[in-house]
Amino acid sequence: MTRCTITDFVLLLSTGVAAISPPTASETLKHNSSAVLWTDCSTTYGPGFTCANYSVPVDWRNPSSEHVVLGMNRYQSNATSRNGGKKNLFVNYGGPGIITTQTLPLTLIGFSDEITSKFDLIALDPRGIGSSSPIQCDVDLWNERISLFPKTERDFTRLVHHNKAFGRSCLEKSGKLLYHMDTKSVARDFEAIRIALGDEPINVLGLSYGSQIAYQYAQLFPHNIRTLVGDGILDHSESETSLLASETQTYEDSFNRFAAWAGTSNESALIGQDVVLLVHQLVSQANHSPIPVGSGPGHFDDITGDELLFNLQDLLISKTAGIGPGWPAVSQILALAATGNGTGLTTLAPAAVKGDVQGNSVLFGGLAVNCADWTHHSTKVADLLYKQQLTENWAPHTRGHVQSYTAQTRCVGWPAAVVNPPWHQIEVHTETPILLVQSLHDPECSYTWAVNVQAQIPSSTLLTLNGDGHTSYFTEGETTGAMNAYLVDGTVPAPNTVLES
Ligand SMILES: *[C@@H]1O[C@H](CO)[C@@H](O)[C@H](O)[C@H]1NC(C)=O
Ligand SMILES: *[C@@H]1O[C@H](CO)[C@@H](O)[C@H](O)[C@H]1NC(C)=O
Ligand SMILES: *[C@@H]1O[C@H](CO)[C@@H](O)[C@H](O)[C@H]1NC(C)=O
Ligand SMILES: *[C@@H]1O[C@H](CO)[C@@H](O)[C@H](O)[C@H]1NC(C)=O
Ligand SMILES: *[C@@H]1O[C@H](CO)[C@@H](O)[C@H](O)[C@H]1NC(C)=O
Repeated sequence: MTRCTITDFVLLLSTGVAAISPPTASETLKHNSSAVLWTDCSTTYGPGFTCANYSVPVDWRNPSSEHVVLGMNRYQSNATSRNGGKKNLFVNYGGPGIITTQTLPLTLIGFSDEITSKFDLIALDPRGIGSSSPIQCDVDLWNERISLFPKTERDFTRLVHHNKAFGRSCLEKSGKLLYHMDTKSVARDFEAIRIALGDEPINVLGLSYGSQIAYQYAQLFPHNIRTLVGDGILDHSESETSLLASETQTYEDSFNRFAAWAGTSNESALIGQDVVLLVHQLVSQANHSPIPVGSGPGHFDDITGDELLFNLQDLLISKTAGIGPGWPAVSQILALAATGNGTGLTTLAPAAVKGDVQGNSVLFGGLAVNCADWTHHSTKVADLLYKQQLTENWAPHTRGHVQSYTAQTRCVGWPAAVVNPPWHQIEVHTETPILLVQSLHDPECSYTWAVNVQAQIPSSTLLTLNGDGHTSYFTEGETTGAMNAYLVDGTVPAPNTVLES
């Protein structure tokens, strides 16, 4: 399964040189292309939307193998382009696991006329997610709350047994697709759709994990690109430890900035309070006796301190209300929690819901992608205790309650192999300029990752937003303008450009 990667690895070792063209430098998809047949779905998604399904091989190295059906939708505005025909712009919101087809209609307002008059927006659900043959697993097993912070060998064994049983249930319910959830397969799916839509060079706006889809596409198909934007950069060349350390630090930085703001701003419900201390007390209390949140679908009836810290990372993704609730709302949620009511802390809490196959695939499919893309080497409790020690020392408030830690614990014992492991060097051999965008204070994607990815992609430029928040496209400031200018006519900002909005 890891044939190509292992070959690259051997080449690297045998020469000791990093700048080697891997065999996967440029691929031609072996696929009998058929046209995409769009049907009206404006009643589901709103005016201007059409939908389609498209079949691709589950295993791209064996194209006559069984197929997986990919679902997508497309938004076409009535605004006309000054220079003739519209191009396609593939949008991805990351996760992994976010349902693109459902998110595009919700974020349409963030796409200016400048963009929608020149592009049809294409939302392709990545394989295994949403309308693309969603990964299914045992809901009850997922909803067993198990600590991701084992302290003893026995705790660790229990965690691994749980992961194995859950993974087996996914394999039983989802079949072979579970073995091919990696991002290289996703990039090949994008290529199949690009060809089927008329073989024009691709345009991609990849947010967060979507940035990895974008540059892994460029890695495989360097000659088929018109524009690629990565916004909120995930670095798929990090070791487990460095990924965890840098994500931990960037969350801690955002938390500290939020706490300083919340204690002093008159927009904050916590003005005048020691917010660091308040959160610290909430977390330790909730770890003894979880805070009730009221019952409802998609979350548990209460929340533990560890869950609170994991969720707070997501709650902090935007300073003003938009893609997240915004800092003022987060301060209200925490103030309410301090009174013993955890409502709002669970907006993004991870309970699965019986019968909600698409919704559950956000959780299940997202995990399957992480387990296919990232190593998770822990074999004993000591391995996780080292990580806990590292993050508790580097980030005394948020203590490593980050997405990469979730993957590094939940994937131990996973039944599918890591078919797309992080590579020491992201090899992208394209002449086409690529635009990377990163805010300096992002609770999820570290600025370290953006600098590191930029350093590895010779034709890329990194644009910096001097501000807070995870991804920048929907902030609708100068940074959005620069991204739009690049998408429209290829204008790339000067290296080291830092924008204030
Ligand atoms: C493509 O179609 C040809 C002719 O129908 C067939 O022989 C071939 O096996 C197909 N290839 C794939 C990859 O499905
Ligand atoms: C474009 O115009 C057609 C015909 O009037 C209408 O059905 C469609 O909903 C419009 N699309 C949008 C995005 O408003
Ligand atoms: C795609 O396939 C699904 C599942 O079979 C079906 O419910 C849906 O209507 C199809 N969508 C389109 C646009 O054909
Ligand atoms: C909050 O403070 C700012 C100045 O720091 C002031 O302009 C604003 O009126 C204040 N708002 C409220 C609601 O007190
Ligand atoms: C918790 O707060 C929410 C939102 O203000 C409210 O609707 C709910 O009734 C409260 N729950 C309890 C048990 O007070």
